[in-house]
Amino acid sequence: EDGLHPAEYPWAHRGAFDTFDHSAIRRGYQVYREVCSACHSLDRIAWRNLVGVSHTVDEVKAMAEEVEYTDGPNDEGEMFQRPGKLADYMPAPYPNDEAARAGNAGALPPDLSLMVKARHGGADYVYSLLTGYVDPPPGVQVAEGMNYNPYFPGGGIAMARVLHDGVVEYDDGTPATTSQMAKDVTSFLAWTAEPELDERKKMGMQAVIILSTLTAISLYVKRFKWTVIK
Ligand code: HEM
Repeated sequence: EDGLHPAEYPWAHRGAFDTFDHSAIRRGYQVYREVCSACHSLDRIAWRNLVGVSHTVDEVKAMAEEVEYTDGPNDEGEMFQRPGKLADYMPAPYPNDEAARAGNAGALPPDLSLMVKARHGGADYVYSLLTGYVDPPPGVQVAEGMNYNPYFPGGGIAMARVLHDGVVEYDDGTPATTSQMAKDVTSFLAWTAEPELDERKKMGMQAVIILSTLTAISLYVKRFKWTVIK
């Protein structure tokens, strides 16, 4: 059974000339880090990817250094712990799927890197899911340990509602309402799914400008050269 069809929201990055809202990506990273990363990995994103997108290089270095990574083997053939570097990928909450399921009553919290692209409805779906927890309608039974969310196909989802007003405190002073955090984390996840989107649109625009200039020049030259022939 399909989930409820999400409404279409006016995402900052939706139009052909639009880029991501980088303040939203920054706030959304904070929501991911403080809320979602307890259960969801973000395998495809390295610390360095955030540089110049949502944070400065010094901020990202400091954030990476707070995480311990296992590295090695060293010259003595031993594994060792070291602070994170820009090249390291986002740390995963669980060592493997088995541990992830064990921590979530059998359900697997999927990696969120490509979630916005993977699911029908994209950003609209993820936003709707996060803000869509309601009591089940009369007559609908939700299995023990499951939560009702009409946007999730089938209605019963293992993930409980995680966003409540004020669960994070934004450093830019934006009030952290449920819908604000959902919008921000979804914007962040839209970026993780398509980190090259801004660049691609910029290249596209440049191509349009260059090609139309060349077309204009060739039309002009053609008309100029052919004026002698009536
Ligand atoms: C599933 C997002 C926090 C546990 C999902 C799905 C999304 C999502 C998009 C996939 C739904 C689908 O398959 O279509 C998020 C975001 C979070 C967050 C953006 C932070 C704001 C959490 C937390 C936990 C959690 C903190 C654990 C306490 C799960 C589980 C599933 C899931 C177990 C699988 C649900 C099922 O298949 O029934 N989440 N999540 N999530 N999430 Fe989260």
